[in-house]
Amino acid sequence: MNYSDLAPSYIRAIAPYQPGKPISELERELGITGIVKLASNENPLGASPKAIAAARAALDEIGLYPDGNGFALKDALVQRYGVAHNQIALGNGSNDLLELAARAFLTVGDKAVYSDHSFAVYALATQAVGATGISVPAKNFGHDLEAMRKAAVEQGAKMVFIANPNNPTGTFLPGDELRDFLHALPANILVKLDEAYNEYLPEECRYDSVSWLREFPNLIISRTFSKAYGLASLRVGYALGNPQVMDMLNRVRQPFNVNSMALAAAVAALQDADFVRRTFELNRRGMAQITEGLTRLKLEYIPSFGNFIAFRIGNATAMYRRLLELGVIVRPIANYDMPDWLRVSIGLETENEKFLSALKQSLGEQA
Ligand SMILES: Cc1ncc(COP(=O)(O)O)c(C=O)c1O
Repeated sequence: MNYSDLAPSYIRAIAPYQPGKPISELERELGITGIVKLASNENPLGASPKAIAAARAALDEIGLYPDGNGFALKDALVQRYGVAHNQIALGNGSNDLLELAARAFLTVGDKAVYSDHSFAVYALATQAVGATGISVPAKNFGHDLEAMRKAAVEQGAKMVFIANPNNPTGTFLPGDELRDFLHALPANILVKLDEAYNEYLPEECRYDSVSWLREFPNLIISRTFSKAYGLASLRVGYALGNPQVMDMLNRVRQPFNVNSMALAAAVAALQDADFVRRTFELNRRGMAQITEGLTRLKLEYIPSFGNFIAFRIGNATAMYRRLLELGVIVRPIANYDMPDWLRVSIGLETENEKFLSALKQSLGEQA
């Protein structure tokens, strides 16, 4: 018998998430060293030494279950954002919170709206609970909020997923456009605002979405410690929202979904503003380095507000493979309906340089 037939049809229809290729895998495949991975939007500075020290200290107690309520981390978030404990849900990465939101509120027959070329997990989380995803055509590779509002209202959706900035396109929605969208949307449609790359926004683009929670009880904000805080491996993120909504998320999560090392490291990371500032500055310089390099190579790119950038390249699959051979891992995004594009994460100056020279060499070979 085919055991996959035992799974519901909507589970069988899921196309699994394709992660960036790990360095160790490419080392095994090609027997090369000195590989640069610019494929998963990780922090090239690693993590704050204070966060690493906190995680190390927590190792002494790995025989014990973690604090299932994550009190200390919630307390640190309360101090940071002026929200109450019951307005917070913690997740095993912010990915967990996307899934928890879907699991808590969506079921077979329900609909969720998201944008073309937006983060793959919105579709996955929607499909995994048997709900129907409605992908709305993008505007200049970014969210078309008016079209998304119309689709949500006309098709009776329960939830709208928005990534700001968006991955993999790096596009950004100004705060006032988001607020107008929230005003125009009926309050019985939940808005999952995914701000995984929030800390990379330049000063002039920042907006205070947390203050909107008072006005919009249907708003769920999620952020992560995986990117600017450099804790991708530990898996920790948080959602902020109204207490009734957070209560539902907390009901469907695993009792101990965030481990002790992650909880301790996140508290320390949140307090290390200097590390986040250095991360931001490095990313700003690296983004300039890469966009200048792409311009020199006469390649089209989408201006990005995250720690990565998508660029158009004729045969993206062949270029991806050639870059692998040259020891540079980037990310194909054909699964985002962008078969002519690759996405590269911003790395250290030397890593960016290695990427640009490998790209130049490959383009030369193609010519
Ligand atoms: C837009 C967006 N949201 C959420 C995530 C999930 O990240 P994590 O689960 O590590 O917090 C990512 C990761 O790449 C992302 O790009």
